[in-house]
Amino acid sequence: MPDPRLTALDAPWMRLSARRQAHSVSVAELARDLAAAHGDDPHLLYLAGLYHDLARELSADELLMEARRQAWPVDSYEAAAPILLHGPVAGGWAGDAGLPAPYAAAIWWHTTAHPHLDRAGRILFVADGVEPGRGPYPGREDLYARAFINLGDAYQGVLASTLGYLQARGLTPHPRLLAAHRAAAPPPPP
Ligand SMILES: [Fe+2]
Ligand SMILES: [Fe+2]
Repeated sequence: MPDPRLTALDAPWMRLSARRQAHSVSVAELARDLAAAHGDDPHLLYLAGLYHDLARELSADELLMEARRQAWPVDSYEAAAPILLHGPVAGGWAGDAGLPAPYAAAIWWHTTAHPHLDRAGRILFVADGVEPGRGPYPGREDLYARAFINLGDAYQGVLASTLGYLQARGLTPHPRLLAAHRAAAPPPPP
């Protein structure tokens, strides 16, 4: 019998473009494999991977409306760039469909990360950043390999790469991303 947590989200899944579906399947497969490597739940991380970008193709108005309907506390960065809300909105849908809270939260934070991100959140964030379908960028293959060996190290690398990407384009990072990057930095040498 199919997992009801999968069928509950058939409708938004069918509205995604083929390109987004392919990315989501690739993230799901990598998140599942990373979960197996690091002692997390492979099936729940597979579902989180499938769901993480379900709201990525909504319009800005739709994202704002849905975030407010879910009582998400929209901040000034999200109000100015509603695309940042695609994680929180999809995480809300996933929670409603029965995905346990830590995995719905992993979806919430998959774009900006969070200074207190747990293992499931780190796995999803890293899988989203390094899945093989991501256009080639310097260091992707190395981060992919490191993700299986040292999750914290790969997480820090994907945070740094995301910040570098934003800075190169003159985009302001969300303060949560900056805080996550600071929190993940290795301690200074004694
Ligand atoms: Fe996303
Ligand atoms: Fe994604």
